Amino acid sequence: MLISNATLVCGNREKRADLRIENGKIASIAPRLVPRKNEPVLDCAGYTVLPGLIDMHVHLREPGFEKKETIESGARAAVAGGFTAVCCMPNTKPVADNKVVVSYIKHRGEEVGLCKVYPIGAITEGQKGETLASIGGMKAAGAVALSEDGKSVENSKLMANAMLYASDFGLKCLCHCEDRALVDGGVVNEGYYSTLTGLKGSIRAAEDILIAREICLSESLNIPVHICHVSTFSGVQLIREAKKRGVNVTAETCPHYFTLTDAAISSFDTNAKVNPPLREEKDRLAVIEGLRDGTLDCIASDHAPHHEDDKNVEFDLAAFGISGLETSFALSYTALVRSGALTLPALVGKMSARPAEILGLAGGKLEVGAPADITVVDLAEKWTVDPSKFLSKGKNTPFRGMEVYGSVKYTLVDGEIKFCG
Ligand code: DOR
Ligand code: ZN
Ligand code: ZN
Repeated sequence: MLISNATLVCGNREKRADLRIENGKIASIAPRLVPRKNEPVLDCAGYTVLPGLIDMHVHLREPGFEKKETIESGARAAVAGGFTAVCCMPNTKPVADNKVVVSYIKHRGEEVGLCKVYPIGAITEGQKGETLASIGGMKAAGAVALSEDGKSVENSKLMANAMLYASDFGLKCLCHCEDRALVDGGVVNEGYYSTLTGLKGSIRAAEDILIAREICLSESLNIPVHICHVSTFSGVQLIREAKKRGVNVTAETCPHYFTLTDAAISSFDTNAKVNPPLREEKDRLAVIEGLRDGTLDCIASDHAPHHEDDKNVEFDLAAFGISGLETSFALSYTALVRSGALTLPALVGKMSARPAEILGLAGGKLEVGAPADITVVDLAEKWTVDPSKFLSKGKNTPFRGMEVYGSVKYTLVDGEIKFCG
């Protein structure tokens, strides 16, 4: 297949070029390629061709919570959002803490055959924080990382051991940072809006303390670590300082942390209830600055689909999470590139090459010989977020009605068109 007339994002630049796909791989990239006899041509005039986007932090809910999402519905949402690969968190039922569940998720992903589905294994058995899970078995079954996402491993000795074992198996720990005792049942950020609404607040330190601990462990043990969904200005600063002194720490944030503040909960909208909570304007600006100066390596959606039954309840009882796969790129493009904070190649790097590098995955680059995982977008197209149109089962978004730029036209995985917008 020939992709013609497009602008390509290659590394840190944009260029006009054609791209040929052969046997699922990128076979050539040149200013002008002439179609061969019977070769299908995808005319992408006016469109921009990106390396397939990779979301390193999603929840697909299967097995166990199929009412919220399945691997199939989640993968459909992923390709609709321009993602050619997703890494899914282990807080399923049963927990993905062993080779059987990990292998089930991997094979179900292959069977669905849309985007690449990479399982992440739990750090402890049942995510109970007591006993290390069988890391070697999960690695052999296809786990690409380990995480206790949804919570932190409270016991620091256990976390140190986890990092040591994980590193022996070539896996990284992806750390959800939350001091449970300090959160103490808080459901929103502690500040003006928690006071206004009477909702229980949680202070930044509840997140920062664990960010600091993971950095300390990484530094002492000399083992790389990755921090999930950074939401605080102070957390960004901790990571910036750690990187400056050479700690091997990487970090992600999510679109909701650089587009929203806790003002979104003033109307008790449970769709804005997320963990860590939406913070304040100075946090939002610090997250953008962290993305700009490289402190924050990547953008992940933390796609957390929930059923209406889990969200259409009083705020305190509602589940935490935002269904993010289908808005992640457009929100990021609109908030970061159109505003001038990041160049398009810089944004794309944070949503493809960096996650691939951090986890050692294939893809993330438009180059000859790479798998033909490709996302084609129309950056000029404006659209309005309408959760009723989501392919994800999770319609829980605080972005309903928001106008965004950048719509996905085609998503190709190993050279095959998996989504056509
Ligand atoms: O908002 C969140 N939702 N944060 C988490 O850490 C877990 C996630 C979920 O699984 O719903
Ligand atoms: Zn988390
Ligand atoms: Zn998560």
